Amino acid sequence: MEVSLGELVKKIFDGSKKAEKIVSKYACRTPVEYSEMLSKLTDREVYLKLENLQKTGSFKIRGALYKISRVRDRVNGVVTASAGNHAQGVAFASSVFKIPCVVVMPENATITKVESTRNYGAEVILHGRIYDDAERRALEISEERGYMLIHPFDDPDIISGQGTIALEMAEQIEDADAVIVPVGGGGLISGISAVMKSVNPDVEIIGVEPENAPKFAESIKAGEILSVETRPTIADGLVTKKPGKLTFRIVRELVDRIVTVSEDEIAKAIHFLLEKEKILAEGAGAVGVAALLGNRVDVNGKKVAIVVSGGNIDLTAIYRLIIRALANSGRLAVIQGYVPDSPGNLSDVTGIIARYRGNIIDVSHHREDLKAPAWHTALQIVFEVESSEVVTKILEELKAKGYHFERV
Ligand SMILES: Cc1ncc(COP(=O)(O)O)c(C=O)c1O
Repeated sequence: MEVSLGELVKKIFDGSKKAEKIVSKYACRTPVEYSEMLSKLTDREVYLKLENLQKTGSFKIRGALYKISRVRDRVNGVVTASAGNHAQGVAFASSVFKIPCVVVMPENATITKVESTRNYGAEVILHGRIYDDAERRALEISEERGYMLIHPFDDPDIISGQGTIALEMAEQIEDADAVIVPVGGGGLISGISAVMKSVNPDVEIIGVEPENAPKFAESIKAGEILSVETRPTIADGLVTKKPGKLTFRIVRELVDRIVTVSEDEIAKAIHFLLEKEKILAEGAGAVGVAALLGNRVDVNGKKVAIVVSGGNIDLTAIYRLIIRALANSGRLAVIQGYVPDSPGNLSDVTGIIARYRGNIIDVSHHREDLKAPAWHTALQIVFEVESSEVVTKILEELKAKGYHFERV
């Protein structure tokens, strides 16, 4: 017979209290920072729980540590399928308890993720093109070797482990009115809401998903678990096709709202956190801030806590994001036009940009451009400026001097 929701929540809450003893020994009690900038922008008191500073770069080790601590005497080893933070969490926790660990990753997993999982002592097996192939192989390995399969979210011990974040937050932030949490398969938000609502039933819990993977938003609307089409997202840690059975039940009953955010909002949030708060968050970790900055959440109370759940982001991804965010905000401009191919013109043009404190990033000449008028060369210039209005002024001044450029 299925246990009642009350019993389930109590079981998770009690589990979180037990998990805290293990987690506090092997993981970090991550800091909470008051964000002056977000508070000012949103007219609230905004606090950030920084799980990006957790060991392995995300909260995932909390659940993995608790789960593995509970089963270590009963199993020969553990196996899991993941190309992301769960892989590193399970690998780390297995090394703490000195039990063998296999992680199956899709063949296209990034080198950084493969390497860091291996460095925590796990055997990494690359298999298949997508996650589902890796998951099937993990199941086979579990049967072949008698290893326990560790699910990333739909497991009460994993959920209790993630709930330790809320136990810490309850001590670190007095009387929070609302907590905003990223949602993938729902383990994190299930643990946080079970603990938070046990401590204070009035606290609002708001979940955030990418528009490109809205499994909870759609399933809750339909009143049943749906498998949704997913599209690539910067918040790759939040991509699963459908909620878990356990997590759906908890989220449906305890979470007040699920909202979604766009790719641009996620990119802006990563950029905002980096530039204004000096916090490095991955896409999945930044969706809470994206929801607040994008006015996607309507919080009733004043004091808001946001879980920044992870910081594992590739350096190349950061570079692309910064360029995209700068271009979006009008602070990175690309202009193109034709100038007479004779000495002095390039310095004239760059001189005008410099007068407006534009910082040139790239200049390219294209003499082969067949559309260029006779004795002219095509010129493309990429530069940073304070705002989009400055670019308009630069274009006007260039035109007044006889140089015809346009924004690309
Ligand atoms: C950084 C980060 N945040 C949030 C999540 C979502 O966690 P859950 O699947 O428990 O909802 C994940 C999942 O991998 C993650 O890596």
